[in-house]
Amino acid sequence: MRSENISFHGGKVSRNERFSVLGQKGVAAWMTGLSASGKSTIAVETEKVLIGMGKAVYRLDGDNLRHGLNSDLGFSEKDRFENIRRAAEVCALFVDAGFIVLASFISPLASMRSMAKEKIGDGFIEVYVKADPETCEKRDPKGLYKKARAGEIPNFTGVTAPYEVPRSPALVLDTEEHSIDECVRILVDKILQLSALK
Ligand code: ADX
Repeated sequence: MRSENISFHGGKVSRNERFSVLGQKGVAAWMTGLSASGKSTIAVETEKVLIGMGKAVYRLDGDNLRHGLNSDLGFSEKDRFENIRRAAEVCALFVDAGFIVLASFISPLASMRSMAKEKIGDGFIEVYVKADPETCEKRDPKGLYKKARAGEIPNFTGVTAPYEVPRSPALVLDTEEHSIDECVRILVDKILQLSALK
């Protein structure tokens, strides 16, 4: 049931005040791409680099959230929308708190990503972690493509469910062209620019 009789309580502290306490602006690097494109790997390494620089950073990962907050959701289009809706709400809170968020979700449809962008607002950037479907299928680190081909996983992105390639992402990390370290360097540079307090 929807909640009723609720109101919004404003605080006495502005977003900018929170940002100055942390010495950075909140940023959400929304990393979209196929399973095995490299999203989580890049996010893990980027987090390490940014923490080493003294930045407040947090990782939100599709697989991880699906163990808790989103454990009631599957991979139908409806469930994926709900998965992204909740993830984007959480991400928006972290960004409002002043954190740099590395959000790795397949988020296969453009409409899911625009919903996330709308909820998160200032600080959102779409990062396309690029690798061809054939490459991802060859990498198959979790053996999921194999299972999907065998008909053991329904609605598997890139096999039996669609992935819409981002049309104008703020950043493309091509994991076939660049090493993980190079991708991390490119992403860190972009995040440092965006999170800098003027
Ligand atoms: S999303 O489409 O709703 O954004 P999300 O990023 O949370 O997906 O989860 C993707 C992860 O779930 C994959 O990395 C993979 O490990 C696992 N997974 C399990 N079933 C599927 C499926 N049908 N399609 C894609 N990924 C799946």
